[in-house]
Amino acid sequence: MMTTATAESLLAFWADAGVDAMLLDAPVDRIAAGRIAPPQLQARKAAPAVAPVAARANQPDVSEAIAQASALAAQADSLEALVAAVSAFDGCPLKFEGAASQAVVYRGDPNAALMVIGEGPGQEEDLQGQPFVGRAGQLLDRMLAAAGLTGRVLITNTVFWRPPGNRTPTSAEQAVCAPFVERAIALVKPRMLLLAGGASANSILKKDEGILSLRGRWFEWRSNDGSLEIPALPTLHPAFLLRQPAAKRRAWADLLILTERLDRLDRPA
Ligand code: URA
Repeated sequence: MMTTATAESLLAFWADAGVDAMLLDAPVDRIAAGRIAPPQLQARKAAPAVAPVAARANQPDVSEAIAQASALAAQADSLEALVAAVSAFDGCPLKFEGAASQAVVYRGDPNAALMVIGEGPGQEEDLQGQPFVGRAGQLLDRMLAAAGLTGRVLITNTVFWRPPGNRTPTSAEQAVCAPFVERAIALVKPRMLLLAGGASANSILKKDEGILSLRGRWFEWRSNDGSLEIPALPTLHPAFLLRQPAAKRRAWADLLILTERLDRLDRPA
């Protein structure tokens, strides 16, 4: 039998190697299995409120959690209130799976001209409670600085709790968090959205396409009530750029297109 000391030494070995979450060989859809989901996430017959693309067809019904998130988000009249509402919300199963500590909602200027929306917090973000503060975030900050955008940006994600093992959030998890993301956009009213990576672009634009076909193309994001229309530009995720430095050229081209349009809009008449 393994002694405690051996087990601790083995765990330390895996932690040093960057293995910080326990996963099974095959993914388990815990929402569908209904094993740890809070009651409001259990399957019901009503049609999902936001399930427009084919990829969402097999997702569990999260309409009740979405309704709860929408009601909470609507009451938030400031970003601080929104952070409190997200932190108190139990309808996203990620809160009980991947997150070690806290909800990770936003960082940056509450009156930002640009809102960057990533996929979801990673390990460093989970620890610090702020989005994009790990290696990918440092690259993002360097790119924003090089484009002259430092201080003009608010950064958030499609989900507010770290997915276990940094997996991509499911569209059900994103749909449950979407009312809070939409409320953040409505409170900040940025002139533009930069969508980092396919998981962000597909969730925010309600699409189901590869990021390589979406990136560098302008889309119009519309709020559900139709009161807001904001230009949105998908681009490559900085974590992808860390793995594929040759792709930085394309992300940089996207950022230049965006900055040029932003500067034109922001210039006094
Ligand atoms: N990747 C993301 O998409 N968001 C973060 O906050 C960090 C890494």
